[in-house]
Amino acid sequence: MTDDPLAQARHRTEAEARAAVIACALQMNALGINHGKAGNVSCRWDRSAASGYLITPAALPFHRLEAADIVWMALEADDGDAPDEARGQPSSEWRFHRDLYRARGQVQALVHTHSLHAAALSCLPAIQRSGLPPFHYMIATLGGSDVRCAAYHSFGTQALSDAVITAMQGRHACLMAHHGLLAAGGHLAQALSRALELERLSQMYALGLSLGGPALLDEAQMQDVMARFARRG
Ligand code: 13P
Repeated sequence: MTDDPLAQARHRTEAEARAAVIACALQMNALGINHGKAGNVSCRWDRSAASGYLITPAALPFHRLEAADIVWMALEADDGDAPDEARGQPSSEWRFHRDLYRARGQVQALVHTHSLHAAALSCLPAIQRSGLPPFHYMIATLGGSDVRCAAYHSFGTQALSDAVITAMQGRHACLMAHHGLLAAGGHLAQALSRALELERLSQMYALGLSLGGPALLDEAQMQDVMARFARRG
């Protein structure tokens, strides 16, 4: 069992969970995969009988975040329901955080960033059509033989959330057209490391494209990699 607060699937207290969400948001910026007031972070947190999640607030730079700024949202919350906290509004992207927690019982944490190479690739028509193809075996760490790109919709909309849910089916991460990336994990550290992995893969692919276009692994090769990862645990 690790002491890393970001690597806890279940935090002991809500205060600990709030601190971990802030630490994750700060690390995202320190790692250079997010900037300014882009991006948002959440983790599951249930309050007695109510299932829910803790999420970064809208439009507050991460370096100014305090524990009380993190917003608790009920998983049942729909449009029009007021957020629980009086202090601030939840991230404008609370719908796709809510919908992923509703749809995927294993997901404990989510990280959304506007990292440079992922955002750049997400603007290319070929990526929007077919996603990031199996040019490198590490694509398999994100759940399959490709990384899909969610269709473009305005930030904060239910349409964007629906597109993200579709792109995330059977995957731990996706690109978001003209926007950035989203990564899920069994804890904040895993979601963050998958976000970092997708950004690095995007950088490699962009470099490969600029050098003439990478060759692709075939489905049998990707299935072999996935079986090896599954055996390794
Ligand atoms: P929030 O500040 O509302 O989280 O928005 C940032 C963002 O990345 C929107 O996609």
